[in-house]
Amino acid sequence: MPTFRIAPSILSADFARLGEEVRNVVAAGADIIHFDVMDNHYVPNLTIGPLVCQAIRPHVQAPIDVHLMVKPVDRIIPDFAQAGANIITFHPEASEHIDRTLQLIRDNGCKAGLVFNPATPLHYLDHVMDKLDIILLMSVNPGFGGQSFIREALKKIAAVRQRIDASGRDIMLEVDGGIKVENIAEVAKAGADTFVAGSAIFGKPDYKAIIDAMRNELAKA
Ligand code: DX5
Ligand code: ZN
Repeated sequence: MPTFRIAPSILSADFARLGEEVRNVVAAGADIIHFDVMDNHYVPNLTIGPLVCQAIRPHVQAPIDVHLMVKPVDRIIPDFAQAGANIITFHPEASEHIDRTLQLIRDNGCKAGLVFNPATPLHYLDHVMDKLDIILLMSVNPGFGGQSFIREALKKIAAVRQRIDASGRDIMLEVDGGIKVENIAEVAKAGADTFVAGSAIFGKPDYKAIIDAMRNELAKA
C-alpha cells in the first residue's frame, strides 16, 4: 500500500485563530498543511501570502505545501521559501518559463510541483518529469473551497499515475478539491497518494474524527 498523506487546506480554517488551527489539525493527524495562495488575477479570489506562512511556521513541524494560484509566479517564490514553505506548486499557465520556475523552487530549497486545472492538458509534464517532486491535480476549478468534486478528474489521476510509474521517479500525486470521507477511497484507487481537504475537515468540529474516518477509507483502497 502506498504512503497516504492527508493535507488539510487552511483556506477553510478560522483565519482569526490560524496558529491554533494548524496545531489542532496536526495533532488530529494531518501530515501536511496545504496553503492556498490566491491573487484575484489568476483566480477570482484573494487569500494569504508569505507573511502568513511565516506566522504559522513556528506552530507546526509538518511540511507546509504552498499552492500558488498567482500570476506571475517567480517573484514570490523566494519569499515563500524564506517564510518556511517546504513544497511549492504553481500552475503552468501562470509561468512564462515553466522549467525555469521549477528550478527556481528547487534552488530555494523546496520541493517543486506543477498544478493542473480540470481542463489543463497533461502535456506540460512531457519535458520536466526530472524536475518534479509532486504533481497536483485539481478536481475543482481553483479559487474557492467547498465546491463539488469533478469526476472527470479520476481518469486524469489514473493517467498521471501511469506517467509517474513509467518514470520510475518518486513523485507525489496530490488531488485538490471536493475530497471528503465519502470519495477519498475512490480517489486513492485511481492512483492519488496525497489528499487535500479543506471544508471536509475545517468545516466540522472534530478534526480527528474526520481524519480517522478518511484513513479508515484509505485502508480499504
Ligand atoms: C481551491 C483550493 C483548495 C480548496 C479545497 O482553489 O486550491 O485547496 O481549499 O477546498 P475543499 O476541500 O473544500 O474543496
Ligand atoms: Zn489548493
